[in-house]
Amino acid sequence: MCHLLTMSDLTNEDINEILQDAEWFWKGNTWTTPQKMYSVNLFFEPSTRTKCSFEMAERKLGMEIIPFETNTSSLHKGETLYDTVKTLEAIGVDLAVIRHNQDHYYRELIPNIRIPIINGGDGCGQHPTQSLLDLFTIKQEFGTFKGLNITIIGDISHSRVARSNMEALTKLGANVTFSGPPEWFDHSFSLGNYAPINQAIEHADVVMLLRIQHERHQGKSFYSAEQYHDQYGLTLERVNRMKNGSIIMHPAPINRNVEIADELVECKKSRIFKQMENGVYIRMAVLKRAVEHSLRGCLHELHN
Ligand code: CP
Repeated sequence: MCHLLTMSDLTNEDINEILQDAEWFWKGNTWTTPQKMYSVNLFFEPSTRTKCSFEMAERKLGMEIIPFETNTSSLHKGETLYDTVKTLEAIGVDLAVIRHNQDHYYRELIPNIRIPIINGGDGCGQHPTQSLLDLFTIKQEFGTFKGLNITIIGDISHSRVARSNMEALTKLGANVTFSGPPEWFDHSFSLGNYAPINQAIEHADVVMLLRIQHERHQGKSFYSAEQYHDQYGLTLERVNRMKNGSIIMHPAPINRNVEIADELVECKKSRIFKQMENGVYIRMAVLKRAVEHSLRGCLHELHN
């Protein structure tokens, strides 16, 4: 399949192929598109890591990036997302990376769009390339997923990272535990169990922290930064409960001294900046796969 929309689109074999390609890039190997190709990055929500690392990956693969700023586009004249992407396809763009605040925004695109769409995050839905870079980071550390205990802590119900990782990690054989404010845990996250924070930290090989997504709380304020840090953050006291050999992850952006103590962001256990570095290799692998599948005509076949 050319598109990458959710982690459900990928079999374990697909995931392993992407991780192998990312490792191949990480080792310094290079690959460029066999013909000139144009990409566009449509970000309707703010982004630093995803947008910049896609741009870095696209440049490393020799792709030409067509600049697109949502706030100066004809979307402001009422043009729809579908007509925007169809227009970009018509003028010769070969691949689109899209982040949008609407869950499943891609459903209206897929039936009639012939270029690969890569989901850079949809609302509270999924963030597949973040999940893949998280998997790559975990694989580098532990060599396997089978039997690992992964604890995901924080604003679970609003987190597309939690949803993508729950799906991917459980199908790869890891055990997922959720923790954080119980009111931010949603039973649609049925592949993992909920546990109190200290217990969830003690048995974890990976403690994955999540940002509080204030932008999805409709203006409601639940905790002050101090209250959250004391009750659910990775504090200097709680980090001592972690097992030897366990690691700390966070998709970032980080709220220092809220979900994690400032001193722990770059501590020995932290792989937070490693995750960001790995994001480039994963996005190179994902783009390579989309280009190769697209050149083989997978979308053309689907539409004929
Ligand atoms: N992790 C992540 O998606 O970061 P950005 O919002 O900066 O892209």
